[in-house]
Amino acid sequence: MSTPAIQPFLWGTATASYQIEGAVSEDGRAPSIWDTFAHTPHKVERSETGDLACDHYHRYTEDIELMRHLGVQAYRFSISWSRLLPEGKGKENGLGFDFYNRLVDDLLAAGITPFATLFHWDLPQALQERGGFSNRDIAGWFSDYAVLAAQRLGDRVKHWIMLNEPSVYAFLGHAIGLHAPGLTDLKAFFATTHHLNLAQGTALQALRSNNTAWQLGTTLNVHRGVSADGSKTSAIMAERHNDLWNGCFLGPLLSGAYPSEILSELEPYIQSNDLNAIRQPVDFLGINHYFRSYIRAKPDALIGYEHAATPAHLPKTSFGWEIDPSEFRDVLLELHQRYQCPPIYITENGAYFDDQLSSDGKVHDANRIAFLDGYIKAMNEARDRGVDIRGYFVWSLMDNFEWACGYRPTFGLVKVDFKTQKRTPKDSYFWYRDLIASKSHDH
Ligand code: FCB
Repeated sequence: MSTPAIQPFLWGTATASYQIEGAVSEDGRAPSIWDTFAHTPHKVERSETGDLACDHYHRYTEDIELMRHLGVQAYRFSISWSRLLPEGKGKENGLGFDFYNRLVDDLLAAGITPFATLFHWDLPQALQERGGFSNRDIAGWFSDYAVLAAQRLGDRVKHWIMLNEPSVYAFLGHAIGLHAPGLTDLKAFFATTHHLNLAQGTALQALRSNNTAWQLGTTLNVHRGVSADGSKTSAIMAERHNDLWNGCFLGPLLSGAYPSEILSELEPYIQSNDLNAIRQPVDFLGINHYFRSYIRAKPDALIGYEHAATPAHLPKTSFGWEIDPSEFRDVLLELHQRYQCPPIYITENGAYFDDQLSSDGKVHDANRIAFLDGYIKAMNEARDRGVDIRGYFVWSLMDNFEWACGYRPTFGLVKVDFKTQKRTPKDSYFWYRDLIASKSHDH
């Protein structure tokens, strides 16, 4: 009798293209919706942009060295769609492929397994002008781009993540306008929700038929909402939030159905074979988890509710995000109980704390160490209780451009001085290095 191959647990870090690369108009890259959004005054704090970010496009060898010394076995990065296809479709940009070829080759030479995310929110602006994810044609555009990227890099990149956090993209970008493309439009929100699923399903099918050796998955931000004020209406809205945020993406992928309470709002966009196209087998599910949401009913809000602040007495990060590792464990257990889940990778988890550069030139981020320690222990409790988790990626390798908050929220294991681009590993970097070294014989 053959025994199943033992899967090594992968320890990694994660980043995303627009948040770190910079070089936004170099070597043929065209703007994404995040370039447009960030260059619109007052959309991002202090009107900061990702024009330079961590200058990773030029400094990627230094960043890979940092990862090599950290000892990570895997690195999750994302591909900038408009670097490969400046118009989003059609004409290819060879120099864009060159960059990712170099990156992947150097990662492999350093012994680091690349996990490539195809869409981490930086949609080519040219496609937004055609309606972006509100336009059903996005399914074909995305799938063509996915196949192209995977054909070029897929002799070396085995792990492909279709989307990053479609709930965040749909909700923050189309319902509350906090992220690019900055819309507050209910129709665009529901159309985008469905078309993200459809694009993902279409790409999964196309990639699967190209190469069965690829490990295909997607990354969802899973967190639960609870009533912020104990009222019945807020409790109902918290359930609505859970359906919109989690159920609308987990449901069609893993059980072939949208949450019944939401279906009527999505129906105008659903065509006859769509749910079959969306329910594709995946080799793994990426889960990003940060915090629990406190939901308050707000009848005049576009979707009927708003996010309230975390109650004052609870422990929080500098973002005001609640710290509760047991909630992370319970989210994983619930996923495991409710769905036929494929193996899981924690593709993001981490914390923003206001870091201080001490007079000794170091960053003593004991709070981040405590956070990571708690969340990793919670993940391990879920593993002990049967959840099949294969890896954990800290968000993030280094401080970066945190979307509408610009460079303020520092999530990195490595501090970046955005004036000089100097990288300084924080205490959490050394702590994570030691943790990885101590676990390297675990399975
Ligand atoms: C997630 C995003 C990631 C980063 C972290 C803090 O929602 O996927 O890019 O901004 O939050």
